[in-house]
Amino acid sequence: MQFEVFHEERTPVELKVTGEIPEYALGVLYRTGPGGYQTTTDKGVEISMSHWFDAFAQTHRFNLISPKKVLYNSRHTCDGVLRGIRETGKIPSGFSFAQRDPCQSFFRKFVATFAPRPEVKTPDGVNIAVTVSTDYPGYPADEKGRSLYIKTDAAAVQRLDPETLEPVGLAKQTVLHPDLSGPLSASHSRTCPMTGDVFNYNLTLGHKPIYRIFKVAKDTGKTDILATITDAPGAYIHSFFLTPRYVVICVWGSHYACGGIKMLYHRNIMDALEPYDSRKRTMWYVIDRTDSRRGVVSSHPGEAFFAFHSVNAWEEGEEIVAEVPVYGDMDVLKKFYVNNLKGDEKSAWEWVEKGRAVLTRWRMDTRSSGSDAVKVWEMGKELGMELPTINPNFVTLPHRFTYGLLNRCKSTLLDGIAKYDSKTHTTMIWEEHAHTPGECIFVPSPAPDAAEDDGVLLTVVLDGCAKKSYLLVLDARDLSEVARAEMETAVGLGFHGKHVGRDSPALAEY
Ligand SMILES: [Fe+2]
Repeated sequence: MQFEVFHEERTPVELKVTGEIPEYALGVLYRTGPGGYQTTTDKGVEISMSHWFDAFAQTHRFNLISPKKVLYNSRHTCDGVLRGIRETGKIPSGFSFAQRDPCQSFFRKFVATFAPRPEVKTPDGVNIAVTVSTDYPGYPADEKGRSLYIKTDAAAVQRLDPETLEPVGLAKQTVLHPDLSGPLSASHSRTCPMTGDVFNYNLTLGHKPIYRIFKVAKDTGKTDILATITDAPGAYIHSFFLTPRYVVICVWGSHYACGGIKMLYHRNIMDALEPYDSRKRTMWYVIDRTDSRRGVVSSHPGEAFFAFHSVNAWEEGEEIVAEVPVYGDMDVLKKFYVNNLKGDEKSAWEWVEKGRAVLTRWRMDTRSSGSDAVKVWEMGKELGMELPTINPNFVTLPHRFTYGLLNRCKSTLLDGIAKYDSKTHTTMIWEEHAHTPGECIFVPSPAPDAAEDDGVLLTVVLDGCAKKSYLLVLDARDLSEVARAEMETAVGLGFHGKHVGRDSPALAEY
């Protein structure tokens, strides 16, 4: 049932809290993701979307007011899209991630800017629900300096009111820089923890795809193009890596066929991708983030894989170490068809063992462009770790602990939370029968001598038996429960979120 929730709570409701949330974790937790897959037209015709990535966008807000008080509100953020379907019985033309019937291919989630969309006039006329930013320089903020942006793998963002979650604006990357006119980008921009500068790429498809890697400066909002890559195939790249001196982009095996031209015909990403070919090696590009005159410093071929989520990267002398959960094919994209995820479908169990990630670490030498990226280690495939998280204080620095969600075939998708210790190569697990956790957000302890794993994990868990969700607070050291805030309703299994601390400038006026 984690895929069929359509409930929203526009007026904040108080949740029942057990335990005590640490003072340092107070603030706001935003979550975004699918808010239902079906709607009914005014004439009673049911319209269903078929892929996890193509659901109706919804954002959730958990307001952690005190150790014992949590308020919750949520909102669908694509009402204009839903209105259009219900009134006309048609799904507006456009692109989706995987919707096959061109007549039902409207999803603007990934593709709000694949093509000019003059018909999209209202902020709720798009469907975006993958990642959350509250500190994206270069995009407009309100008079109090606050901003809340929802992002996807397109060069478009949707702006929400940070309290009511009402859509209030749309923006394209051309707002940042006129050269960022390609349609594609990474859902996961990277923010430097030292400077607050934000990094991403913009991809133009075509016979010769062009990646433009850019930086938006925190203090000025000014955007610089750091490098242009023209010798790589266009690929579906959901995230990348950042170190103190470099942006690292791994062009993995999710290549668009014919430079992406199939996108225009099939009108979805899935059918525009080439079949996975394990002979096509990855190519890691290392880009100087401090001096745009240097551009690409080195590139490194490596073993073939597909991936969604970079974990972290750092420098060891002139070498770069990068960590990422990888797949040996792209079956995981097919696994995410809703019928393949639903526990009551026979096909779901046939897909359970497919598309499970393996956490890996890689090393490459920037002094030797053309040398291979070498795999340092990988953790057991039997765990299938995804949606990785680390202590944010260790972003761009060597980290020891990686947290993530498990797929051990106990459920059709996710069945536990793992803490992986890369020093001892041991794993600690949290699990409850029939409870499906969402991505964990690490909130570090502010203590000056805090250890790397001193903090809490925030995760929204769906209790499949009670058909209700709860916000769970775990001690990141031993995964013991610190607190939980119980809901009377369920939250659909979502993608990503953002915690904004109570003392953050972004929350000062809340
Ligand atoms: Fe993601």
